[in-house]
Amino acid sequence: MWKCERVIGADLDVEEVLGVYRASTLAERRPVDDVERFTRMLAGANLVVVARTEDGRLIGIARSITDGAYSTYLGDLAVDVAHQGQGVGRELIRVTREEVPEAKLVLLAAPAAVDYYPHVGFTRHESAWTLNRLK
Ligand SMILES: CC(C)(COP(=O)(O)OP(=O)(O)OC[C@H]1O[C@@H](n2cnc3c(N)ncnc32)[C@H](O)[C@@H]1OP(=O)(O)O)[C@@H](O)C(=O)NCCC(=O)NCCS
Repeated sequence: MWKCERVIGADLDVEEVLGVYRASTLAERRPVDDVERFTRMLAGANLVVVARTEDGRLIGIARSITDGAYSTYLGDLAVDVAHQGQGVGRELIRVTREEVPEAKLVLLAAPAAVDYYPHVGFTRHESAWTLNRLK
């Protein structure tokens, strides 16, 4: 069995988190080879929920930024392929949402997950806009 809980991102072992990004395939779309930047991503996220097996193995993560009152941006959701399809992603989202129930949860879906989010209750927003990173 596994369970999800909120943690402090900066307290996580970066190599362990990199492991779950790689094991989920999300590493293909994140700057995992720039460990200094990845470490800042983890420390800068103020709402991090992890899923661990009974023996403590990290199998999933939801990395978000929230204002604690109105909006939560879910930057990354990743579940180890060996544990996908068991409800871990759904539970990571549920716990993230429960932490700040007043906040709307927003995200950008990775191509592999565009059909996932409507399946777990998200609605597509027709007026979402982004500006690309400056660097
Ligand atoms: C997307 C992801 C987080 C889902 O996590 P998961 O733990 O496998 O999902 P769950 O087990 O909670 O799935 C819940 C439901 O969604 C379905 N589902 C899972 N992945 C899906 C997908 N890619 N597309 C459509 N439906 C999907 C499951 O079959 C399940 O359906 P059910 O409730 O009818 O049985 C996981 O597959 C993953 O890490 N993917 C690679 C990284 C990625 O693309 N992350 C998203 C970044 S935005």
